[in-house]
Amino acid sequence: MHTTTPGLQVLFSRQQIADRVIELGRQIDKDYAGQDVLLLGVLKGAAIFLADLARQVTITCTFDFVAVASYGKGQKTSGAVKLIKDIDQPIEGKHIIVVEDILDTGLTLSFLHKLFQQHKPRSLKIATLLDKPSRRLVKIDADYVGFSIPNKFVVGYGMDYAERFRNLPDICLMPSDYPE
Ligand code: IMP
Ligand code: MG
Repeated sequence: MHTTTPGLQVLFSRQQIADRVIELGRQIDKDYAGQDVLLLGVLKGAAIFLADLARQVTITCTFDFVAVASYGKGQKTSGAVKLIKDIDQPIEGKHIIVVEDILDTGLTLSFLHKLFQQHKPRSLKIATLLDKPSRRLVKIDADYVGFSIPNKFVVGYGMDYAERFRNLPDICLMPSDYPE
């Protein structure tokens, strides 16, 4: 069994994450009953969350992915958001759920929300596994939130520190003095 990197404190275990993802899937099933939804993942961090969430949803769903660059190598944001990979299919007239790993300052999701809104989707919602409301620089809320967390840097379950630790099955706390 894959164990968590020694020395990192677990914030949410794989079981806690799995239980919460089941609940989010049920909520989405209920909210979109009888309709098709496009899960639009934000690479790379949301890949694992999207993969698990998609398997808890029983309504008809398709996937697409965008990639953005916002963070540097370490724990600090540069503030700028750049689209590196655009959507493959048109989203006009579709029900879209943007799937993100973590809503932090809100810069990434407000950038993406504005961008997707211009494509005239039928509806546009946001699902984020983690939310750090105390870090917000722009006003944006998610419609589906896995867990709200304090201002701590986390890794695992898709989330990285300098591209490492995405493959940890648990969500762990990253010590602020961890070397880059
Ligand atoms: P925002 O634009 O500040 O909301 O940042 C969102 C992005 O920053 C997320 O998609 C993550 O990739 C990254 N990020 C923010 N907080 C963390 C964290 O605690 N660990 C890992 N990545 C983070
Ligand atoms: Mg990241």
